[in-house]
Amino acid sequence: MGKQTLVLENIEKSFKDGDRINHIVKNLSFSVNKGEVVAVIGPSGSGKSTFLSIAGALLSPDKGKVIVNGENISSFSDVEKANIRLNHLGYIFQTSNLVPYLKVEEQLSLVLKMAGKWSKGEKLKIKELLKAVGMDHRAKYFPQQLSGGEKQRVAIARAFVNDPEVILADEPTASLDPNRSMAIIELISKIVKEQNKSAIIVTHDEQILPLCDRVFVMKDGKLIEQERNVKYEKVQ
Ligand SMILES: Nc1ncnc2c1ncn2[C@@H]1O[C@H](COP(=O)(O)OP(=O)(O)O)[C@@H](O)[C@H]1O
Ligand SMILES: [Mg+2]
Repeated sequence: MGKQTLVLENIEKSFKDGDRINHIVKNLSFSVNKGEVVAVIGPSGSGKSTFLSIAGALLSPDKGKVIVNGENISSFSDVEKANIRLNHLGYIFQTSNLVPYLKVEEQLSLVLKMAGKWSKGEKLKIKELLKAVGMDHRAKYFPQQLSGGEKQRVAIARAFVNDPEVILADEPTASLDPNRSMAIIELISKIVKEQNKSAIIVTHDEQILPLCDRVFVMKDGKLIEQERNVKYEKVQ
């Protein structure tokens, strides 16, 4: 197996708007490597979430290949795609989307149960992941007892619990203040590097870009890699 964890080839996606057809994604190709955190920026409505949904096997492209873990999932059935989502991909959204009536540790065990990977031995893994995001002391808490930043940290632990190759995050810091935002991206990056995973982070939060290995801009339905310039250099 090569370095690339997720590859998109020549992706097309249109939506109907009354009589009009809007071509949102046009001949888009993209790949992300192991150990890499990639940011995707671009104006509102440019198709960032559409791209991420296709990359995350949540939305089917009209044309093109989506290759996850070396397998072209384009022709997979809905059930097969659900299996890819449960076993190979992890998601982080703008709001944490925790289940209100489950304790923090249960948010994580639920994912393993759904993926058929649950056993008592996994309790240690859950504890370690919660420790990695600084939330092990909140394992028995319910979401309503946590702050926004804490909920998002639980959501990060949850995204990693099924040992996914690729983490997909859509505006993960949009509901957080600047300090918390940096901490959240640092946390994602730390786990990605330690565990040799990949992360794709859609964002309009420019302050986090220096923490990412590569930056792409969504433009005219394609992803264009940005040259690294002064604007994105880390300010020490
Ligand atoms: N399911 C859908 N049906 C129709 N139009 C959609 C759908 N999803 C997205 N769009 C349209 O596609 C464009 C890009 O949306 P989106 O990918 O959400 O952009 P971004 O995340 O960059 O703000 C928008 O014009 C949006 O209205
Ligand atoms: Mg969006």
